[in-house]
Amino acid sequence: MFNPRQTIVRQIAREHPDADIIAEAATCLRRGGLVSFPTETVYGLGASALEARAVESIFVAKGRPPNNPIIVHVASVEAAQQLVLGWPPVASRLAERFWPGPLTLVLSKRPVVPDIVTAGGRTVGIRVPAHPVALALLRAAQIPIAAPSANRSAEVSPTTAEHVRQGLDGRMDLVLDAGPAPGGLESTVLDLTVDPPRVLRPGLVTISQLEAVIGNVGWDETARQHAVSGPARSPGLLDRHYAPRVKLQCVKAAGAQAVQELLATDHRVGWLRLGPGSSRNVSENAVVIDMPSDPAAYSARLYAALHELDDAAVGHIVVDLPPSGDAWLAVHDRLKRASAK
Ligand code: TXA
Ligand code: MG
Repeated sequence: MFNPRQTIVRQIAREHPDADIIAEAATCLRRGGLVSFPTETVYGLGASALEARAVESIFVAKGRPPNNPIIVHVASVEAAQQLVLGWPPVASRLAERFWPGPLTLVLSKRPVVPDIVTAGGRTVGIRVPAHPVALALLRAAQIPIAAPSANRSAEVSPTTAEHVRQGLDGRMDLVLDAGPAPGGLESTVLDLTVDPPRVLRPGLVTISQLEAVIGNVGWDETARQHAVSGPARSPGLLDRHYAPRVKLQCVKAAGAQAVQELLATDHRVGWLRLGPGSSRNVSENAVVIDMPSDPAAYSARLYAALHELDDAAVGHIVVDLPPSGDAWLAVHDRLKRASAK
C-alpha cells in the first residue's frame, strides 16, 4: 500500500532554474521524499539512491515489479565512479563522448548502492542527464538520484509534467515542471560487464554512434525473451511495456484501410500516420496524428501522441510502421512493446 501524499507542482525555467525551487526539491530528496523532474529523455520519478526506503517508495508509487532495476542519475563521472567497482577504459570513452546525455552504463555495483536499486543484481545502471534542471537538482542534493520514468508501471512514459500528474498525483511529493522533455524517448542502456558491450535497451543514442566510439557492440533482440525471473538482464523483461491503455497495432502499409476496418466495430480509432497526408477523407471518428518522418522528431513526438490518443478515448490505435534501420531502432522497440499482447 502507498501512503497518499500531497503532490505539489512547481513551474521552473529550463535554463537557469530558480535556486529556491531546486533547493526545495533537493531537501525533499535528502529527507527521503519523491520528486519528479525533467530529463532530456522523459520525466523521471526520483528518490535518494542511497536510501533503500526511499527507493522502495518508488516501486510502490509506480506499482513496479521488484525485479526491475532502477537507473541511478549522477552529476559527474567522479560521482559515477563512487558507485561502481571498476571503471574500464570504454566507460571513460563513452562518458567523454555521451555524458551528460541519454546513455546509461551498466557496471558492477559497490555495496553502497542498496540492493533494491538493482533488484538484487550485482550491476547498476548509471547516467549523467543533460537537462539543466536535472543537473541543478543533482548538484544541489549532492546525492545520486534513483529515477525510473515517472509513469505507472507498464504505461506510456511521460514527456510532460501533466502526463506525470495524470499517472502519479497523490503518490509523490513534488513535480518540477520545465515543459516538454525534448528527447521524448528513454536513454540507451548499455551493459559494460560483458565483452563486447551489449545494448539492453535501444534508446536515443544509436548503436552506430556507440560503435563509432568503442567498436563492435552487441544487440540481441531475443535476449529479453529469455529473461524469466530474478533481476532483469534486459529491461524488456516485461513484454508489454510503454503501452497505451488501448490496443495498438502496427501496419506496414495501408493504414487508412486498417482504420476503416476497425471503425466498423469501434466508435473511435486513433491513427499515427506517416508520410504525406492522404487527400482521401478520413472518417470523423478517426483521430489522426501526422508523425514526423525524421527519427529524432518522431521519437520526440511518439509518447505525447500516445498520451493524446489515450485521452481521446479511442478504442484502438493504428500505427504506420516507420522505416527500418539503426536510427529507428528505439522507435521500433517501443512500438513493438506497446503492441505486445
Ligand atoms: O531515459 C531514461 O533512461 C529515463 C530517465 C528518467 O533517465 N529512465 C528510465 O528508467 O527510462 P526506467 O526505469 O523506466 O527504465 C530503465 C531500464 C529498466 O527497464 C531496467 O530494466 C534497465 O533500465 N536497467 C536499470 N538498471 C539496470 C541494470 N543494472 N541492469 C540491467 N538493466 C538495467
Ligand atoms: Mg520506464
